[in-house]
Amino acid sequence: MAHLWSGRFEGDPDAALVEFGRSFGFDRRLFEDDVRGSLAWAAGLERAGVLTSADAAAIQSGLQDVLAAGADPSFFNSPAADQDEDVHSFVERELVQRIGDAGRRLHTGRSRNEQVAVDLRLYLKRRIPELQRAVVETIDVLATSAETAGDALMPSYTHLRRAQPVLAAHFFLAHASAFRRDHARFATLLDEADELPLGSGAIAGTSYPIDVAWLAKTLGFSRIVRNSIDATGDRDIVASALFACSLTMVHLSRLAEDMILFTSEEFGFFELADTAATGSSLMPQKKNPDPMELVRGKAGRVIGRLAGWLATMKGLPIGYSKDLQEDKEALFEAEDTLRASLAATKAVVGGISINRGPAERAASGLLLATDVADYLVAKGVAFRDAHEIVGALVRRLVNERRSFDALTLEEWRSHSPLFDADVYQAVSAAASVGKKRTPQSTHPDAVANALAELRAFLRDLPGSSR
Ligand code: ARG
Repeated sequence: MAHLWSGRFEGDPDAALVEFGRSFGFDRRLFEDDVRGSLAWAAGLERAGVLTSADAAAIQSGLQDVLAAGADPSFFNSPAADQDEDVHSFVERELVQRIGDAGRRLHTGRSRNEQVAVDLRLYLKRRIPELQRAVVETIDVLATSAETAGDALMPSYTHLRRAQPVLAAHFFLAHASAFRRDHARFATLLDEADELPLGSGAIAGTSYPIDVAWLAKTLGFSRIVRNSIDATGDRDIVASALFACSLTMVHLSRLAEDMILFTSEEFGFFELADTAATGSSLMPQKKNPDPMELVRGKAGRVIGRLAGWLATMKGLPIGYSKDLQEDKEALFEAEDTLRASLAATKAVVGGISINRGPAERAASGLLLATDVADYLVAKGVAFRDAHEIVGALVRRLVNERRSFDALTLEEWRSHSPLFDADVYQAVSAAASVGKKRTPQSTHPDAVANALAELRAFLRDLPGSSR
């Protein structure tokens, strides 16, 4: 079997080592990017006077045929393809098979080192918008949950202890805020990918007068890499992509954890749709949140790919090393896992309903202590003193297993003469959220504004039909 580099060697390489080095099993995913890069390269060679227009035309039409053949998945599984080292060898072999000698001129002045770099960037430029769309769908379902929640109240938690009442809508919008940062991070990633590496050769640049500015424009890149040594050995873009995927998975995992907790018997604020839960083979009563557990679990896999990839990069001398080939399985697995997890989360969150009674009951009681302190502050007490007074009151109520609403006016007054009958209206979950003032707060007007702003963001996205 001839390799792209067989000339230098006597006899065949060790079969097991060839198999060990092959990447076609996974880099075939770059097929259409590889062909697009080659189409542009052939045109670039022609412009540089390196290819005759007849050869360039033959290569272009041959590559178009190869691209068209790729629409059939079995194209990648022929006995010949089973011997190809990587997607670049595959495309070149298929091309030469179709057009003969002209095809053997395509690789003039080019290296696979820059070819794989340009393929990856083209791949990311077409796939990142797809991931962004999937993130947007998750944001959309959270916005709908916030709308459906209306004025439903629930407790918020710090240290996983009841903290203060919030609107359930505010809770859903909190998760949406994190995913909006992820969406923006993917946009930054698109910009990072927007550099043309071609013209770098194997490491030192190319000796043919290739118009890289024209090539960049043709392939839709807005910049050219700064340095050929860096460009051929740089896969920072993969690390950035793995980070963007990892952090989105972390956000999905935190949302999953909240769904698992809040749909449990212990919390009972939300109910999972029957379609989004699984049963137990043994315990008939079980309604398990398996999909959310899997999302939480799969976050570890993506974070592992990021950590693994950084470890692969850290010892490499500048310039290309074959270690870099490890980037693709990491990237593809992270991407696939994120995509599947976003879809699962969308399905589960879309089916959640709120148990208003239990959620609102859990939102009142001693977690209104801050509101009691604020009541005293409004009557002129220093906050530190108010905190002390209410702390003593809470200690008493905990001992007596009662809550604020059970106190008689006399009992209130035994803690401070400033308590009046209006304390009963002032100390409730609804009053608590109604007293918040800042735009990022859980005040119903602030939440309505936040929701409207989120809807406007979704509507104004390019290509949006929302
Ligand atoms: N499969 C290789 C990679 O992903 C392509 C570049 C191969 N270059 C080489 N000199 N072996 O990095």
